Amino acid sequence: MRIRFRGRDFLTLMDFSRREIEFVVEVAMDFKRLWSSRVPHRSLEGRVIGLLFEKPSTRTRVSFMAAIAHLGATPLQLNPNVMQLSRGEPIKDTARVLDKYLDALVIRTFGQEIVEEYAEYMENPVINALTDLTHPMQGLADLMTIWEFKGRNRRVKIGYVGDIWNVCHSLMIISSIFGYEMWIARPKGYEPDKRIVEFVEDMSRRTGANIVFTEDIYEAFKDADVIYANTWHSMGGPEMEKEKRLRDWRGYQANPDTVSVAKEDYIFMHCLPGYRGEEMTDEIIEGPNSVVFHQAENRMHTEKAVLSLVVP
Ligand code: CP
Ligand code: NVA
Repeated sequence: MRIRFRGRDFLTLMDFSRREIEFVVEVAMDFKRLWSSRVPHRSLEGRVIGLLFEKPSTRTRVSFMAAIAHLGATPLQLNPNVMQLSRGEPIKDTARVLDKYLDALVIRTFGQEIVEEYAEYMENPVINALTDLTHPMQGLADLMTIWEFKGRNRRVKIGYVGDIWNVCHSLMIISSIFGYEMWIARPKGYEPDKRIVEFVEDMSRRTGANIVFTEDIYEAFKDADVIYANTWHSMGGPEMEKEKRLRDWRGYQANPDTVSVAKEDYIFMHCLPGYRGEEMTDEIIEGPNSVVFHQAENRMHTEKAVLSLVVP
């Protein structure tokens, strides 16, 4: 089977087959080996890649900038507040102009339809660095981390606690494609987007994945290979209702009591930034099962893989 990436947008993992996602992670592992032995890998020399971030970011921004620099290309940080976008220039005009200067555009924004619009009006690839709906770059690094710690061919159980938002959606997509068990603990009333549910239900029928929502965190964490926590109040809509969420989500926390029902060798993952005392306690993120900083490192390797495959 021929895998073709060159020139493709990376807007959601729903656009890629299992084999294509595996290939990205395999390439990321090669980049990780090159990077750890300090072997230069400047396959994108001379290219210019724009980063347009409309929400805060530490990991995604810096890992992309480092990845672009290691690949020999130039990262250009585009501040939306000083662009004509801030005065109402339409996305379709901005996109066609940026396309003349850049070899790819990495965007972090609100609605998924925004990255879709850029992609529609740009010939060069658009890479989603987080929308409200999905966080595909996080999903790739999460899969790589699970493979590294739990093996590539295991049907793992993931016990997830945290906002039902981009990171959860991308992990649901990954779990459905790879036939994983994913148990999601959340208070009633917090439900996934129906575009994701439709995809995940259909995919799970084909792969045998099992994705379950529960109000019982112990049920979600029971015998889990992976405990995954995420904030209760994401950027965008949810942060407006932070006070309500702090009340609704009380107790939905990875702590020594709730994780005691997981497998003894479980790994603790978190996309970060994390809020100690809310979705997890200090003992858990700092404890021996935590792999959160390996996971954060893998952001750079998977982004390098995506860039090296899609940038023309
Ligand atoms: N996990 C993640 O995307 O982190 P940042 O918001 O810091 O980029
Ligand atoms: N769910 C989080 C992820 C941050 C990386 C948010 O969107 O705020």
